[in-house]
Amino acid sequence: VGRRAVLPAGLEKLLTAQILHTYETRLFPSAESIEVKRAFIEKFATILVTEFPEWEVDIHVFGSSVNGLGTSRSDVDICLTTEHRELEDIFVLNKALRKYHMRTYCIPRARVPIVKIWDPELRIASDINVNNTIALHNTRMLQTFVAIDGRVRPFVMAVKHWTKCREINDAAFGGTLSSYAWVNLAIHFLQTRSPPILPVLHPPAPSLDADASRAAGEVDLSFNDDIARLREYGRANTESLGFLLYAFFRTYAYEFDYRHQVVSLRNGCYLAKAQKGWDTGRPARIFCIEEPFSTWLNLGHSANTVSVEGIRREFQRAFSILRDGGSYDNVCEVY
Ligand code: CTP
Ligand code: MG
Repeated sequence: VGRRAVLPAGLEKLLTAQILHTYETRLFPSAESIEVKRAFIEKFATILVTEFPEWEVDIHVFGSSVNGLGTSRSDVDICLTTEHRELEDIFVLNKALRKYHMRTYCIPRARVPIVKIWDPELRIASDINVNNTIALHNTRMLQTFVAIDGRVRPFVMAVKHWTKCREINDAAFGGTLSSYAWVNLAIHFLQTRSPPILPVLHPPAPSLDADASRAAGEVDLSFNDDIARLREYGRANTESLGFLLYAFFRTYAYEFDYRHQVVSLRNGCYLAKAQKGWDTGRPARIFCIEEPFSTWLNLGHSANTVSVEGIRREFQRAFSILRDGGSYDNVCEVY
């Protein structure tokens, strides 16, 4: 059925130009949106010192507003660190924020409890957690990947944009995958090109024994962030953005073995589910994407059999459109 490995040269160039055009005109965050985020963080900091004057609370911004993969419309992800464990009860923060006309919604029983905020004045959304610092490290990891090769940012943002347009980017309410899971998938794809575009940043895999490290409550946070040297890494690969997107769709439409394989960015390769003990028990282990630091977590856990089938059909649809000469805009047509 023509799952050919290459696009005709003319189409590949055209597709690359279309992706870059969308990236520059619609995905790259505007100066105004960056200013609004800054204003929100300042306002939030003022609320904290006003409401909790006795407590020392640090504000860390993480996620797409700082990892280079956010758009004008991305939310602001914030982690508060404090020794005042009372604040880990997110209803405490919630109560304070309400006085300032913020619309809030608590998700207290999630793995990471959060307060979701909508600020009607600045028209911006934010997710706040308290003392969950692991995301600060994976944010720094993503910043590192983005800095290594100029194709990373437009490629990953083009993938994220497609997932949002096609409504397969909503782990919490849609039963599909989070942005973070998609970003892992896209970066891993760039690690597994031949020759690779992105390196493995993590030390060789002691943490394959995830259950032991989880039990010990230990997470190895180290990774290679020597960006100046790592920039040399992907030079031998000259694949275009257009070709990469086409090959990405083909890989997850037809080549990836959902039943047996695990996407591992930590190792820069596929692992076997059996190797991780993810081949038994839990029916939710259908699309397996290993969290690079907390390797016992599957970022694909939010998608069930039906939604994974839907995601796979989206890959097939996108692939067919490009194969038949359609544009990136056609691929991203909204429902
Ligand atoms: N995160 C995580 N584990 C998850 C989901 C998210 O550690 N299962 C962390 C990651 O650091 C991620 C951040 O939370 O970058 C924000 O998650 P999310 O809002 O889903 O992704 P963003 O990268 O911020 O993308 P978007 O632009 O869609 O907001
Ligand atoms: Mg976010």
